[in-house]
Amino acid sequence: MNQESYLKRETETKQDSDNELLDISHPSQGTYTLARSNAYIRENRQQVNPAYRLAYHLMPEVGWMNDPNGFVYYNGMYHMFYQYYPYAPVWGPMHWGHAVSKDLVSWTYLPVALAPDQSYDSGGCFSGSALVQGDKLLLMYTGHVVTGPDKDNDYRQTQNIAVSDNGVDFVKSALNPVIRLDQIPEHTSPKDFRDPKVFERNGIYYCVLGSNDAAGRGVILLYQSTNLEKWSYVNVMAQSDGTLGDNWECPDLFSLGGRDILIMSPQRMPAQMDNYRNLHSTVYMIGTLDDKLGVLEYEKYYPLDYGFDFYAPQTTDDEQGRRIMVAWMETWETDIPTQHDHHWAGAMTLPRQIVLRGERLFFLPISELEQYRTNEIKQQNIHLDGIRDLDMPGDRYELYVVFEAGTAENFGLKLRVGEGEETVITYQVEERKLRLNRDRSGTGLSGERAADVELNDGRLELRIFVDVSSVEVFIQGGEKVMTARIYPGPDSTGISAFSSGNCTLTEVLKWDLKV
Ligand code: FRU
Repeated sequence: MNQESYLKRETETKQDSDNELLDISHPSQGTYTLARSNAYIRENRQQVNPAYRLAYHLMPEVGWMNDPNGFVYYNGMYHMFYQYYPYAPVWGPMHWGHAVSKDLVSWTYLPVALAPDQSYDSGGCFSGSALVQGDKLLLMYTGHVVTGPDKDNDYRQTQNIAVSDNGVDFVKSALNPVIRLDQIPEHTSPKDFRDPKVFERNGIYYCVLGSNDAAGRGVILLYQSTNLEKWSYVNVMAQSDGTLGDNWECPDLFSLGGRDILIMSPQRMPAQMDNYRNLHSTVYMIGTLDDKLGVLEYEKYYPLDYGFDFYAPQTTDDEQGRRIMVAWMETWETDIPTQHDHHWAGAMTLPRQIVLRGERLFFLPISELEQYRTNEIKQQNIHLDGIRDLDMPGDRYELYVVFEAGTAENFGLKLRVGEGEETVITYQVEERKLRLNRDRSGTGLSGERAADVELNDGRLELRIFVDVSSVEVFIQGGEKVMTARIYPGPDSTGISAFSSGNCTLTEVLKWDLKV
């Protein structure tokens, strides 16, 4: 069955299965199969509490989602796979959930693509990537195996492949694992060896893997292959200088504007002033890959996002030649409000187009979002000195604002304002900082993040996407982005602007976004 006919069948049978209700129970080890996961989803997706479901972001149908995997453009569709545990809104032995989209905004779920059903992946089909091979789609992923009683320490990881000729059904290779434990180089961790991102370059296949040097520093390992089945180790492609955390996860290497760009997720990276304040971070470096040596030369690294909830990003290119990035819009070890009685947890960020400008990356919301704009509201030249309700309520919208700082000390916006609730974005002129505060955003999460932001000719331009339980703030044309999950009550829909001192809101545009 191909993608299109699967989609058709899925809509036809949806209604029948929605009436059945099964108990949510965890299958015991060794019983995870694709058939079981797909039956479970069909029979339990109606249990999901709609309260915090997002309107234009990808979420799990039911259960738990983490990293984006296998993000790829194949046969006229964007495919997004994801780390998935359908049986409860908590992390569990990982499956690969699967959804497709023609425009990266409206997604259709496909059956689960991988289940942890083999001896080499019994503890989970961990993160990985996809590669289009002629008319086939190849997935490369980490097989996680628990080897002792302490599952947090006793484990081994190898790399495996699965192939599909219809974009729906995947067959794991008889040759798995294709990168074995005995191919782990000396002086690197014998167990943290995961998240292959596979790509082709000058006729050779490469894959980058996250690991550490077993002495507390994150590393990226580079492997190469001529046929995707036999792999050989090339080198440590990049390693922490001591400031970048003790283990690196989810690397992605790609070329953009003639440069080689590495993005990855360092674990337990110490904060640097306002940056890297989450337990685990994400960074990018722009450099040059010496593919003979297998080493990435780069000078500096920068955060990929300045908010709270952004991890394990992955990119793909597409037919239009864009490089697009999606991340898990969560962070590890947070108590997510929907884990309690809502039967789901986790979402993906909006897809962001990456653009190289000089020595920095800019991040732009994909242009496809504009097709979903409705109910445009426009206001201009609003003088501010104090607080003002903009009288344009909403909980799923895009907002474009330009502030002219004037003589104000600070100014900003309050979003999702209601009885005792608000999510506050403040620009502090003297400190040249933009702050995102969610102390009063609703249930659960709190805290503040800040980013250094310069005004352009005295102006601050923000493009903000609010989607029920998320906010993404694109600053000064995508120079920086701040992402957060928030859990306000349904009646907290106000939007107000404020300043301390005189300033002008020269432009406000708001659209509801409806998929
Ligand atoms: C990153 C990560 C990956 C791993 C996956 C397991 O969030 O820890 O390194 O493959 O999650 O779900």
